[in-house]
Amino acid sequence: MRVLGIETSCDETGIAIYDEQLGIMAHQLYSQVALHADYGGVVPELASRDHIRKTIPLIDAALREAGCTKDDIDGVAFTAGPGLMGALLVGATIGRSLAFAWDKPAVAVHHMEGHLLAPMLEERAPAFPFVALLVSGGHTLLVRVDGIGRYEILGESVDDAAGEAFDKTAKLMGLDYPGGPRLAKLAEQGEANRFKFPRPMTDKPGLDFSFSGLKTATATAIANETKLAANGPVDEQTRADIAHAFQQAVVDTLAIKCKRALLHTGLNRLVVAGGVSANVSLRAQLSELMASLKGEAFYPRNEYCTDNGAMIAFAGLQRLKAGDVEPLAVRARPRWPL
Ligand code: KG4
Ligand code: ZN
Repeated sequence: MRVLGIETSCDETGIAIYDEQLGIMAHQLYSQVALHADYGGVVPELASRDHIRKTIPLIDAALREAGCTKDDIDGVAFTAGPGLMGALLVGATIGRSLAFAWDKPAVAVHHMEGHLLAPMLEERAPAFPFVALLVSGGHTLLVRVDGIGRYEILGESVDDAAGEAFDKTAKLMGLDYPGGPRLAKLAEQGEANRFKFPRPMTDKPGLDFSFSGLKTATATAIANETKLAANGPVDEQTRADIAHAFQQAVVDTLAIKCKRALLHTGLNRLVVAGGVSANVSLRAQLSELMASLKGEAFYPRNEYCTDNGAMIAFAGLQRLKAGDVEPLAVRARPRWPL
C-alpha cells in the first residue's frame, strides 16, 4: 500500500508519499516562516492563502520525486485537525477532492497522531506499548499508547503548551519568530544555576503540566536585570543565562512527569515527538532518564519532529489498513481530542 500525505494545519505545507514496503518515497516541505516573520507569529489568513499556492505544486513535486503517478497511489491522507481552520480546509479540500477524482480512499488524520507515530518512521522503531510525550506548539500530552488508535491521555497542559511557552518567552526576550529554536540556541551559551525558575506542578501528584508561569518568571528576571543595568540593555551573557534557566525548567518538568508516567504505567519505552522534541537539551535529559530506568527513548529525526507530510502519510496508511475511510464530505476539525 502507498499513501500520499498532506499536512497544512499551521505554517508548513508538507507533502509525502509513504510505501509500506519501501518507506518514505518523497518528502516535500515548504515552510512559511519568512511569510510570517514580520508579524512575529502565524497570521492565519496568510497561512491559508499560502497553502493554496503551494499544496498542488508540492504534490506534483512529490509524485516526480517518487517516480510514480496517481495510479500508483492507493490512498490520500490529510490532516483534518487540530489546527487553524482555514489552513486545515485547504489540505482537507485538496486531499478529499483528489482522492475522489483518482477514485481512491481518503482518510482524515489527527495531527497529534501523526506526531505520535513519527518515531515509527525510523529504523529503530518503538514497539507497543509505550508512553509518548508529545510536545508541540499547540499541545503538551503524555499518552499511554497500546496500539494504533489505542491512546489513553495520562496528562496534558492546563495552559500553554511547551512549544508555546518557548515561543512566548522568546518573544518577550526580544527574539524573532520562530522563537522556540532561537531561545534554545541562546540557552546553549548560558550558564547553569545563575537563575533558578520553578518546576511547575511537580510538587503535587498527577501528570498535568502548566507552563504559563515560566513566562512570568522570565519576565521578572529580565525586569530585575534591566534595573540592575541602570535601565540599560541586559548584557548578552545574562540573556543567555536567563534562557538557560527557562529551558532547564521546562526540560526538568517534562522529565519529572515522564518518569512519573513510566512508573505509573510500568512501561519502559518512551517516545518523544512534536516540534519541541528537536530540543537537544530535552533529548539529552530524557535519554539519561531512560538509561537510569533501564528503558529506551525513541525520537523522530529532526525533519520529522516539526510538522511534515511524512508523519501524515504514515499515520494515514495505518488508519486505512485498520478500515478507516473518510466520507465524501470535506471535514476539518480545528479542535479535535486525540
Ligand atoms: O510540531 P510543531 O512543528 O507544530 C505544532 O504542531 O505546533 O511544533 C512547533 C513548536 C514551536 O512552538 C517551536 O518553537 C517548537 O516546536 N520548537 C522548539 C525547537 N524546535 C521547534 N522548541 C524548543 N527547542 C527547539 N529546538
Ligand atoms: Zn505539529
